[in-house]
Amino acid sequence: MSAETFYVTTPIFYVNDAPHIGHGYTTVMGDILTRWHRQRGERVWYLTGTDEHGQKVLRKAELNGVSPQQWVDQLVDDEWRPMLETLDIANDDYIRTTDQRHIDGSKAFWQALYERDAVYKGSFEGHYSVGSEEFVGEDDVVDGEGDDEGFKVSTLDGSRVEYMSEENYFFRLGDYQQKLLDFYEANPTFIQPESARNEVISFVSRGLRDLSISRSTFDWGIGVPWDDEHVMYVWIEALLNYVTAAGYGVDDERFAELWPANIHIVGKDIARFHAVIWPAMLMAAGQPVPHQVFAHGWLLVGGQKMSKSKANGIRPDEIVDTFGSDAYRYYFARALTFGSDGSISWEDISARYHAELANGFGNLASRVAAMIGKYFDGSLPAAGDLGDAELAVVDTVAEAVRGADEAIEAVAPQDALASIWRIVDELNGYITDQAPWKVAKDAATDEEAAARLATILNTTAEGLRVLAVVLNPVMPKASAVLWDSLGAEPTLGALADQRIDAVATWGRLAPGSTITKPASLFPRIETVETA
Ligand code: MSP
Repeated sequence: MSAETFYVTTPIFYVNDAPHIGHGYTTVMGDILTRWHRQRGERVWYLTGTDEHGQKVLRKAELNGVSPQQWVDQLVDDEWRPMLETLDIANDDYIRTTDQRHIDGSKAFWQALYERDAVYKGSFEGHYSVGSEEFVGEDDVVDGEGDDEGFKVSTLDGSRVEYMSEENYFFRLGDYQQKLLDFYEANPTFIQPESARNEVISFVSRGLRDLSISRSTFDWGIGVPWDDEHVMYVWIEALLNYVTAAGYGVDDERFAELWPANIHIVGKDIARFHAVIWPAMLMAAGQPVPHQVFAHGWLLVGGQKMSKSKANGIRPDEIVDTFGSDAYRYYFARALTFGSDGSISWEDISARYHAELANGFGNLASRVAAMIGKYFDGSLPAAGDLGDAELAVVDTVAEAVRGADEAIEAVAPQDALASIWRIVDELNGYITDQAPWKVAKDAATDEEAAARLATILNTTAEGLRVLAVVLNPVMPKASAVLWDSLGAEPTLGALADQRIDAVATWGRLAPGSTITKPASLFPRIETVETA
């Protein structure tokens, strides 16, 4: 690792919830981003993990008759780590808030806040939602209706709230209003997209109150270092995962290398925690603030926000079992605009799978390999002089790669894929126009036709080489199969070592390389049930 390590995080997910495609969405997008940066040759660190303390977890464990530690261990092993495998995630680290490093680091951070006079003891009276582990201000509490009749509920997310009166420690968040506003102004890309930035700025502009940051009526949490009657409020402790995983208070060298994070990817529901409370805490502790918080939108299923409490909570493996992890990753990156809400449906996944992946891309790869097999015995022919049609391909590819790279820089994976798909379309159009099967008819008797055929197939193979590299961050399995089918490794090395900035340089596949027909990259799925 070095000071330039590109450090990306997902939220740490509540361990109690079953992983659904909303969690999968965040995690896949972070994975695509980090794999792209790795493919650029940068040092990258990708962190994800689970949020395991708090009253909600404690209650659920009690309900299940096991200790909270047993409860969280089981969920991490049975649910959360497997989700990473299902989605083919290449995370570098996995933080659990029950890890000793997190406990030690969190205590060290609190000690720093204490010594800098950023916390004080007070008493809290008001409402708390155990369901969303949030203090809810009086303005946001209303009488429940229907199933919630007789209870108070939060207008923020409809969860039931409980009245509590506790002795708590408070963080002097109220001192940070102007500092935060100045910070947002000086760092216009700190919170993105613009809609999230505007929302955060208007929230902070309305004024900030000091924040209760400890609880004293249960003990499933990390003890406040100087007062063992209190545990840290779970949200405050959870935010600290980003620094404790980076070694805060435990491994100074690692911390200096990783911190500050480059980008926290979060859903818009938790943008305020990350863009208001978190930078204020870091400022109070004398630590640098992350470069960016990127808030993405909701996945909507049947027009409604997906959540596990509704029947529309879909598990990632329900999709992956049918379409595979590559198609899953492709679909969520391509079909939605990162930063906005977006609807997904089984029909749409199936339609894109068949049109874009099976017909557009998979078919291209297998046709080119089949023709090189048929006309050149599977040995890549050398290209002759490139004509206008070939030069147009070369230009389009270079532009598309540049466009994709810029889109990733702007955290817009949908634009990166749109740009990459220009290569797929260009190659398909080129093959249709050049009709190599017609040229092949004359190739046996006509030297010029034979040279032309070689040039056409070399050009398409080169295009596929570029696709294997630029699609590797999105669809690592298919890209590996393609790389293999192009016989590229013996001369060019491993797919992971191919650099984005050099990929569009033409003529890199060695003539004579063994081209084999790839196993079908995206086989047609005949029996797609409609969900
Ligand atoms: N534990 C907190 C986060 C602490 S981070 C310091 C938490 N966990 S969570 O399990 O509820 O996960 C929230 C995240 O899951 C959201 O921010 C978002 O990344 C993702 N999503 C959950 N539901 C979602 C949708 N319906 N759509 C898109 N993403 C969603 O909050």
